[in-house]
Amino acid sequence: MTDELHQVRLCVNGLTHEVQVPARRLLSDALRHDLGLTGTHVGCEHGVCGACTVLVDGRPMRSCLMFAVSAEGAELTTVEGLAEEDGSLGPVQQAFAECHGLQCGFCTPGFLTTITAGLRENPRPTREECRDMIAGNLCRCTGYQNIVKAVERAAELVEERA
Ligand code: FES
Ligand code: FES
Repeated sequence: MTDELHQVRLCVNGLTHEVQVPARRLLSDALRHDLGLTGTHVGCEHGVCGACTVLVDGRPMRSCLMFAVSAEGAELTTVEGLAEEDGSLGPVQQAFAECHGLQCGFCTPGFLTTITAGLRENPRPTREECRDMIAGNLCRCTGYQNIVKAVERAAELVEERA
């Protein structure tokens, strides 16, 4: 039996794409396989690890827990959309590079999107608040110390670039 296809308009990183997907197509799969935006990583596919986090109207969401059809009309931002307009690293990306916040990098896109949204809500987090900001993202490599430092550094960079 073939699935009925639905025409969906996905607005991602400022560009609009028309895709035809079955109703059960996950947003994470639509981004990666239909749009080729493979920066969004898929770890657990159960909403646990946070690797697939993208911004939906500015708010972090697990794209493995959302259907592509339900993203119609929303403004989506993936890790590819976090660079500056001139292509240089965005503040959170820069902070990860400076503070060695990544090792294998598998978890990194989810951290970058989560922290971007977190700093918009709380631009001057305490160390404890930095830890809270990333509490829903799992990293198997880094032990988190450098990621917490990267959140603090990202806050400085966001302020400097404002
Ligand atoms: S892949 Fe979505 S939360 Fe793990
Ligand atoms: S850097 Fe490898 S899982 Fe986080």
